[in-house]
Amino acid sequence: MSATATALPVAARVDGDIIIDVEGVTLSFGGLTCLSEVSLNQRRGEMLSVIGPNGAGKTSLFNCLTGVYRPQRGSVVFHSARGHSSPIVADGGNTKPHHVNRLGIARTFQTTRLFNALTTFENVKVGVESRQHTGPVGAMLRLPRTRREEHDGDARVVQLLEFVGLSARANELAGSLPFGDRRRLEIARALGTQPELLLLDEPAAGTNPAEKLDLGRLIRRVNETGVSVLLIEHDMSMVMALAERIIVLNFGRVIAAGTPSEVQHDQAVIEAYLGTSHKAVGPGERPRGQSAAPSTGEG
Ligand SMILES: Nc1ncnc2c1ncn2[C@@H]1O[C@H](COP(=O)(O)OP(=O)(O)OP(=O)(O)O)[C@@H](O)[C@H]1O
Ligand SMILES: [Mg+2]
Repeated sequence: MSATATALPVAARVDGDIIIDVEGVTLSFGGLTCLSEVSLNQRRGEMLSVIGPNGAGKTSLFNCLTGVYRPQRGSVVFHSARGHSSPIVADGGNTKPHHVNRLGIARTFQTTRLFNALTTFENVKVGVESRQHTGPVGAMLRLPRTRREEHDGDARVVQLLEFVGLSARANELAGSLPFGDRRRLEIARALGTQPELLLLDEPAAGTNPAEKLDLGRLIRRVNETGVSVLLIEHDMSMVMALAERIIVLNFGRVIAAGTPSEVQHDQAVIEAYLGTSHKAVGPGERPRGQSAAPSTGEG
């Protein structure tokens, strides 16, 4: 299953009802190649994980999937449940991030990006309102439709806060929340945009073991509601417990792909990332040399 430059891991691409299809994505900055011929796809409803050492290109890949970065080569196509296929990356251009979000892809960031001066409730409302139709004129005139949208939006925020377990903190400032709650709030805000596909970039970074367990359960529940989840995470206990399939990146290339068990026993993955001491992963365990703090490479 391990790969060479000429033999791409077969399991990086699977058959079935595909939600996102990534083909030959190559991304460089100056002379530095961050992603090299990356091809993978994800089934609708699948919990797929992308792992690899610091600097492997994981966040850069998310940036390509969300229109933040424009790769020099390759394509990314999103297939919505409504039967529309939309090129996010294609020859000649890429879709802008806010449009990617409207298509049905939401993300969280490696370092949380909340509005710290707004409350928990207001942060989620920002996500929910991005899906609403009221323009500035409608808002000024307080049209019936505007009032109805506002009422429905507030009800949706209440539901989402309950879903992520933050109802009791609805009126607290986001900036004052403990780390685990900040992570859950980011997920709630992303869900507010009604995504079909949710990209999570190290959702457990900076959290304690109890918070990690809670986050793992939350991510599973999100997936059970029918949202496809693409998860970047260094916490191997979380990845191995949640992921149906894992793609491994190293130096911008896919070096392996398969089930958690296949990937854990892949020699190339052990050498590049997991380490020879890696047998069974314990709670909160990170591969050797991986920093626990959120690291560089933000999108
Ligand atoms: N905007 C940019 N300009 C220049 N280099 C960049 C840029 N974005 C990413 N890189 C480089 O691309 C490489 C991959 O970075 P990336 O952040 O994608 O890694 P990562 O796998 O997410 O790592 P980590 O696990 O530390 O978050 C790194 O060498 C990084 O410095
Ligand atoms: Mg990263």
